Amino acid sequence: MAKKIAVLPGDGIGPDIIAEAVKVLNKVEQIFGTSYQFQEYPVGGTAIDQTGEPLPASTLQACLESDAVLLGAVGGPKWDNLPGNKRPEAALLGLRKELGLYANLRPAVVYPSLVGASTLKEEVVSGVDLLVVRELTGGIYFGEHKRTTTESGEEKAIDVLEYTRSEIERIVRLAFELAMKRRKKVTSVDKANIIETSRLWREVVAEVQKDFPEVEVDQQYVDNCAMQLVRNPKQFDVIVTENMFGDILSDEAAMLTGSIGMLASASIGTGNNAMYEPIHGSAPDIAGKNIANPIATILSAAMMLRFSLNQIKEADAIEAAVTSVLEKGLRTGDLASPGQATLSTTEMGAAVIAELESMFA
Ligand code: NAD
Ligand code: IPM
Ligand code: MN
Repeated sequence: MAKKIAVLPGDGIGPDIIAEAVKVLNKVEQIFGTSYQFQEYPVGGTAIDQTGEPLPASTLQACLESDAVLLGAVGGPKWDNLPGNKRPEAALLGLRKELGLYANLRPAVVYPSLVGASTLKEEVVSGVDLLVVRELTGGIYFGEHKRTTTESGEEKAIDVLEYTRSEIERIVRLAFELAMKRRKKVTSVDKANIIETSRLWREVVAEVQKDFPEVEVDQQYVDNCAMQLVRNPKQFDVIVTENMFGDILSDEAAMLTGSIGMLASASIGTGNNAMYEPIHGSAPDIAGKNIANPIATILSAAMMLRFSLNQIKEADAIEAAVTSVLEKGLRTGDLASPGQATLSTTEMGAAVIAELESMFA
């Protein structure tokens, strides 16, 4: 039976990078005899233009009924002045909430061939292999957001940050379980010196930790963690943190690998649904130029095969093809050194496909 994949290209570079990931999956079908039924649905700004809503009910329904969701990116200047709940980004929050995707896994792995592509020194980044486990359906993203006025009539904005114990516990527990399959270290990141939700977070970590005696635990304040990520990133195995800290720290971690165009992600949760997307956005500055790096999206498709479809050798093959393409020195502009020849988005997709073909010829 063909696996139903809801494909949500979105805005900006979204459609370009998604097209390459789908072509790679088509090649996987040919090589391995797997079968994917791709259905495209509008989301974000594109959906606003077509239907007036960032997340049309039909798109959400299709995602709920699919075996997995593959998303490009949403957002762009055209829609930046809409009210918060009507913006393209609201679609992402809606999908995460409605699909119950409380955990966002963002691996940051430095490919040996890309050690020189980072802005940091080679000895700092070489060998980095960390996983950011970001809480995705709570925190300030989902608290009340409102405008009001003070008693003296001054304009005032309010965003509420809240977490329940169970919301914290499930993400922390998942992080420990993942660490057990890796190098058995969890760094929990918070701002417990200031924020009450962080103090609850620390208490929960201390409790969950008791069930995982083999796991080494480090608790860092988020400001220190931001510094440690560039000072000595090899200290990290699994980083677990709340929604907004995870958003910020994972973009920072991306630069260890050479480019935000390298970071894939899986959003998993309470049900059978899961969503796969690059961590970067719609990159309006390079949209429509065919120069975006499609690797983060291609690697997200590999994560989809691994986690949602249990197609392990197929996922391994995609990851191996990406590794060899990079080893051959092929680079999109974001990864290239000055003066180096670069591949376009479509050329990079084609290079991965050619590599898959030659691996299985
Ligand atoms: P961004 O990630 O879109 O871009 C940041 C920088 O990284 C830009 O210079 C961009 O050109 C570059 N970049 C991003 N992806 C790249 C790729 N694949 N290849 C090469 N370079 C790449 O972040 P931003 O500029 O802050 O946000 C732009 C829009 O995207 C906003 O509307 C924002 O809300 C939205 N956004 C969406 C998502 C998502 O859909 N998951 C994530 C982040 C931002
Ligand atoms: C991401 C993005 C989103 C987030 C925005 C666009 C809502 O930055 O997926 O990292 O902050 O979660
Ligand atoms: Mn982000």
